[in-house]
Amino acid sequence: MDAVVKFTSQSQGRDRIFRATQYACALSIYLLRNNPERKDLVNKLKSLETNISAGRKLLRLGNTANSIVAVKQAMRLSDRVLRLCITAANINRALYFICDNLLWARNVGLILSIDKERWSINASRCYLYSLVMNLTRDLYVILQLMLQKGRDNHFKQKMNQHLSESPEVAEVTIPELDAFVFLLLETLRSEPTVALDTVKNICDLFIPLDKLGIYKSSAGLVGFCGLVSSLIGILTLARPTLRIKP
Ligand SMILES: *[C@@H]1O[C@H](CO)[C@@H](O)[C@H](O)[C@H]1NC(C)=O
Repeated sequence: MDAVVKFTSQSQGRDRIFRATQYACALSIYLLRNNPERKDLVNKLKSLETNISAGRKLLRLGNTANSIVAVKQAMRLSDRVLRLCITAANINRALYFICDNLLWARNVGLILSIDKERWSINASRCYLYSLVMNLTRDLYVILQLMLQKGRDNHFKQKMNQHLSESPEVAEVTIPELDAFVFLLLETLRSEPTVALDTVKNICDLFIPLDKLGIYKSSAGLVGFCGLVSSLIGILTLARPTLRIKP
């Protein structure tokens, strides 16, 4: 199991680059869809996208083991809310990979008895639950940081200064709202790891919501969000200090 975990964490970087390419293809296909001169290119991009997607499924075969290790680690966290959110997120992620692996086996013809459509929906559902738990965690961390900042005297001074310096804002909007937005933005600015993780999770959210038909967005939006989230994924892998902890 250790060897599998080690190997899959090493292939994570590769997968993120493939993922970014896959969504860049999807976005380009969407942008070029009405251009008859580019029909050839669109067809090439489509086949590239399909191939990358199939290749990524193969690379993801060991990810279930990775997620199970992550579940075990998350269960040891001392903060109750974090423990619940991260454990649930990783359990759903493990279930997602199990569905994903079964779909891979179905696609290559190893097992034929499973219903592709149903398992694909199961996979999207698990992915969605994992994202919702991750976003709950982000929200919880942001609220805690905001409370902390709000109690900080140095920050209070800064906030009062901001509120007194922006009369045009104070006139049109509610001062409490202005203070809240200021506190929120300052919090996100001081903790870029949390800000990045939140943006990434929100971007990812559009993918399962679209697949499950809960919120139908355009193929362009899904491609764009997938690309942004993949680029953030590459960034946090290249710069581990930007990665949310735990
Ligand atoms: C949820 O967060 C965990 C830990 O940060 C991460 O490993 C996992 O990939 C996230 N889930 C999804 C679906 O992005």
